Amino acid sequence: MTGAYRLTFPLGLDPEAAQIPRENPLTEEKIRLGKRLYFDPSLSVDNTVSCASCHLTEAGFADPNQFSFGVGGQKGNRQAPTVINRIFSRTQFWDGRAGSLEEQALGPILNPVEMGNPKIEPVLERLRADPSYVGAFKAAFPEDGAITDTRVGKAIASFERTVMSGNSPFDRFLAGDASAMSESAQRGYKLFKDENKGNCETCHVSFNFTDENYNNIGVGMHLKNADLGRHPISKVEGHQGAFKTPTLRQIASTAPYMHDGSEKTLEAVVAYYNRGGRPNKWLSPKINVLKLSSQEQEDLVEFLKALSGEVVWYGK
Ligand code: HEC
Ligand code: HEC
Repeated sequence: MTGAYRLTFPLGLDPEAAQIPRENPLTEEKIRLGKRLYFDPSLSVDNTVSCASCHLTEAGFADPNQFSFGVGGQKGNRQAPTVINRIFSRTQFWDGRAGSLEEQALGPILNPVEMGNPKIEPVLERLRADPSYVGAFKAAFPEDGAITDTRVGKAIASFERTVMSGNSPFDRFLAGDASAMSESAQRGYKLFKDENKGNCETCHVSFNFTDENYNNIGVGMHLKNADLGRHPISKVEGHQGAFKTPTLRQIASTAPYMHDGSEKTLEAVVAYYNRGGRPNKWLSPKINVLKLSSQEQEDLVEFLKALSGEVVWYGK
């Protein structure tokens, strides 16, 4: 009864790079269920917060607040990253602590300052008491239709894999339409790649603009209780203050920026890099004072803006 679902990838995205676990193949029924769960505040302890409260469709699936508000108006200490193009990454979260989207999805449901449930079982009980969810789980998991935490994760992950951004001016430019990007953005693209200029591509590499690795660029490292990012997870010395290189797709829609939302605009981000980030013991050797002119900084910003294109998701 369940049918395999074929994704349509916007221009510029590489279908070969899609990460779809063998044990969770895409089906339309799972995606549909996952979409419903993604937008449903009843997954939170007091019925007020859904995934979409912090990853807003209208804000590039990120949060315009520096720190998101969870149940009871509580605030966390990291900026909500975008859910766009997560299909291309294995590890999730700024520190990569989740090994898959399936695993990631259960995190916020049980996080005390996000959706606030002390345990998953009462959440599952609420779903089991709703006949339309019972039907939807039966359609998505026809083996037995059981409503389990693993399946909530599988369904939400399936929906998230349909959330993509491509077909941007940059993609159309690369595909041969020389007029798709402004001249300023074209100059910015050169600076982005040039090792002796922006040197951005060394980390923001390939079609999704990330090396899928952890780098210390110095954000927040002056703070007394600095967030040490990947280090507490990996215990690798070089990971002190290192965060996952984020995608730059749709970046114009997802302000504020950085894991702590400390930069409000793309101009401010570029100025930060131009200063050489924030020097600290573990700063990546790839981060240096750039000495870009104001025109060059403007060009880089124009290029970043050209990475915003068509945002698609299931049933949009
Ligand atoms: C209260 C706000 C809030 C809610 C609700 C919330 N998130 Fe998040 N989300 C965040 C924050 C903040 C982070 C970054 C946390 C970190 O990296 O430690 C995050 C990270 C993520 C990531 C990782 C993205 C990446 O690039 O690594 C995904 C995917 C995600 N959330 C999906 C979801 C899903 C699915 C739900 C609903 C089940 C959800 N979020 C609910 C705030 C929220
Ligand atoms: C050493 C690797 C590295 C280099 C080089 C680098 N970046 Fe980054 N970039 C990162 C990491 C890691 C983050 C997240 C840092 C954090 O939040 O602590 C980031 C964050 C960003 C963000 C904010 C993304 C978001 O969603 O919040 C933008 C925009 C950005 N970089 C653009 C650039 C530009 C433009 C350049 C070149 C001038 C550049 N980067 C060079 C690794 C790098």
